[in-house]
Amino acid sequence: MSGGVYGGDEVGALVYDLGSHSIRAGYAGEDCPKFEMPSQVGIVEDIEISMDMDESSIGKQPEKKYYIDTPTMKVARKGMEISSFLNDGMIENWEIFEKVMDYSFAKQIKSESQLHPVMMSEPAWNVRGKREKLTEYMFERYNVPAFFLCKNAVLSAFANGRSTGLILDSGATHTSAIPVYDGYVFQQAIVKSPLAGDFITIECRKLMEEAGVEVVPAYQIQSKEAVKDGDMPKWKKKDLPELPKSFHNLMVKDVLQDFAASVLQVSDTPYDQSTAESMPTVHFEFPNGYNKDFSEERFKICEGLFDPSYIRDISGNNTMLGVGHVATTSVGMCDIDVRPSLYSSVIVVGGNSLLSGFTDRVNRDLSTKTPPNMRLKIISASGSTERRFSSWIGGSILASLGSFQQMWISKQEYEEGGKGCVERKCP
Ligand SMILES: Nc1ncnc2c1ncn2[C@@H]1O[C@H](COP(=O)(O)OP(=O)(O)OP(=O)(O)O)[C@@H](O)[C@H]1O
Ligand SMILES: [Mg+2]
Repeated sequence: MSGGVYGGDEVGALVYDLGSHSIRAGYAGEDCPKFEMPSQVGIVEDIEISMDMDESSIGKQPEKKYYIDTPTMKVARKGMEISSFLNDGMIENWEIFEKVMDYSFAKQIKSESQLHPVMMSEPAWNVRGKREKLTEYMFERYNVPAFFLCKNAVLSAFANGRSTGLILDSGATHTSAIPVYDGYVFQQAIVKSPLAGDFITIECRKLMEEAGVEVVPAYQIQSKEAVKDGDMPKWKKKDLPELPKSFHNLMVKDVLQDFAASVLQVSDTPYDQSTAESMPTVHFEFPNGYNKDFSEERFKICEGLFDPSYIRDISGNNTMLGVGHVATTSVGMCDIDVRPSLYSSVIVVGGNSLLSGFTDRVNRDLSTKTPPNMRLKIISASGSTERRFSSWIGGSILASLGSFQQMWISKQEYEEGGKGCVERKCP
C-alpha cells in the first residue's frame, strides 16, 4: 500500500455529526456523543469599531463576537443575531463553521485537532465543491492526521446493524428517504420533503396564534400569576435590551419544541375528528402561565406530516410529500430487484421520529402502499438516544473497526493527492 494507511493509534478518532438542529461529537468507540450543542450561534457585531471610523478602518468589517453553545447563546444579549453555518444540511458559512470547530476542540473535546483523526457525517446530497473544501479545511486549518467523510444515511444504517436498507430520516429541516445498498447510497433515488420538526413547530405557532395566545419564552418574563385552564395568561415583561427577531424566534421555537415533544401525538390511522376527540387530553403549561388541556389538536397538527392536505392555510398547489410518500417514491425510483431488500429494512431515524406514534403510522401507511407480496419491516431503535444520534453512533462504530483503518484519508495522501482525493476515498 502506498503509505496511505493511517497508522496513528496513540489517541482516539473523533466523530462529528452535523445536523441543522444540533451538532453531535465525541470519541469513536463510545456509545454516545461526548457532547451535543445547538448548530445555531449568536453573533454580535461590534458597532463601536464601525462607528468610530478613521482612515485606517475604511473597508474594514465590524468585528464580530461569537456566542456558541447553550449557556452563552441562549442568553438575551443586545444586538445578538442567531445564525447557522448550515443550509439544507450542507456547510455554507465557513467562518461560523470554523468558530464552532474551534470551540468544540478547545472547550468540549479539550484537546488539539492535530492529535485526532476526524470522521465527519454529511448529507447524501452534499456536493463535490463543499466536500473538497471541507477536506482542505480539516487538513490545512486543523492539521488532522487523517480524515473521512461519510453519508449520514450510511452511518445510520450501520448503527442499526445493516448495510442495506431505506433510511427514513425525519430531522429538523427535512424528512428524507435514502436507499442504502451494501453501504452505498443510490444517489438518483434520494427523496426529500420539508415536512419535519421545524414544520411541526410552525404549525404549533399557528395553533397558538389562532387561539389568540402569544408564545412567550421564559427570557421575557419578569413574573406571572396562576390562571385557570384556558384563561388568558397574566404576566409581567422583563426590562430587556433591544433583541433581534432571530434571537426571539429561536427562543419561541424552543418552547414549541418542548410543547410538541410533550403534547403531540401521531394518529395511527388517517385523522378522524371524532376518534381524536375521544382520546385522552394532555395538559401543558407555557412559561407565561397559559395552560390548557389539549385534545384533538394533538393529532391534527401531526397529520400534516403524513397528509399535507391537513396543513394550516396552505397556499396554492402544494407539492410537499407526506412521510409515507417520501419513502414509497424513493423505493419506486430504485431498480425493481432491490426494492424487496429496501422494504424489508426501513430504518426510521431522526429527532422528529420521536413524536409519539410516528413509527406506527409509518408502518401503517407503508403497509397500505406496498404491494401485498412485499415483506415490510420497520426498524427503529426504541431508545431516543439511538434514534437521535444514529448517524453519530454509526460513525463511532465505523471509525473504530480494525478493517476501517486503511480507509482514512491520511495526511500524507492528502499532501500527495490534494483535496480531490475525497471523491475517490469517500464515495
Ligand atoms: N422527543 C421528541 N419529540 C418530538 N420531536 C423531537 C423530540 N426530540 C427532538 N425532536 C425534534 O427533532 C428535531 C431534531 O432532530 P435531529 O436531531 O434528527 O435533527 P438534525 O439532524 O440536527 O437536523 P437535520 O436532519 O434537519 O439537518 C427538532 O425539530 C426537534 O424539535
Ligand atoms: Mg439529521
